Amino acid sequence: MKNNPIGIFDSGIGGTSIWKEVIKLLPNENTIYLADSRNAPYGEKSSHEIISLCIKNTELLISKGCKLIIVACNTATTNAIDHLRKNYNISFIGIEPAIKPAALFSKTGAIGILATKGTLSSKLFEKTANEYTKNITTIEQDGEGLVTLIEEGKLNSNELNNLLRNYLTPMLNFNIDHLVLGCTHYPYLIPQIIEILGSTVKIIDAGEAVAKQTKAILAVQELLSNSLEKSSHYLYSNTQTKVLSEMLSDVSANFSVNKLDF
Ligand code: DGL
Repeated sequence: MKNNPIGIFDSGIGGTSIWKEVIKLLPNENTIYLADSRNAPYGEKSSHEIISLCIKNTELLISKGCKLIIVACNTATTNAIDHLRKNYNISFIGIEPAIKPAALFSKTGAIGILATKGTLSSKLFEKTANEYTKNITTIEQDGEGLVTLIEEGKLNSNELNNLLRNYLTPMLNFNIDHLVLGCTHYPYLIPQIIEILGSTVKIIDAGEAVAKQTKAILAVQELLSNSLEKSSHYLYSNTQTKVLSEMLSDVSANFSVNKLDF
């Protein structure tokens, strides 16, 4: 079991921002990544639909022998992780908007949160926000349309830049000093975000924390790989593989990208 792969899934290509942190911190581990791009964006779906999609992805990863599953999607985590944990005998690591550090370290007392509608309307998000933002002004913004444009590979398009500007500029009027990225697709927009908000607003992205948590859980369960062989990484998309491959142009590890129907 130790040398079985870590399974990772997202509604599409965004979760590769987490996958990159995982393979950096755990270079001996094998991984399998599922980009469910055919069903993106999850953020516009009902909780019930999101849970069904997460079940489909989870069962595929379990059938491929994964020893642990990372739900590399805030929308999927905030809507479905409780269900997954209750129904499958495997550990799940999730990601949710990192409101806590932003609220704790804010000096202006105002923070921005950019996430999907599915995340912002979830019970888990509401609970975390209530717990940590009592004396803080939070500006929550639904990033509607951003995931679809990223999935289409239109990262540097005027369309995406205009949307982002419309979503973020009002936050400057509230004098935010932190912006929480509540969607794993959004780290790919960091250069554009800095252009809009300037470099004094700190961008909070929980990718590295997820990798650390994964390592800690595998260590406790004595499931860290002890293989001396080169690690293997298989990434699958259920639509075209072009944009997924483009997102990985900065990765030096050995990986393969393939189309798979799931
Ligand atoms: N990467 C997903 C997240 O972190 C995107 C959700 C979506 O598909 O709308 O929320």
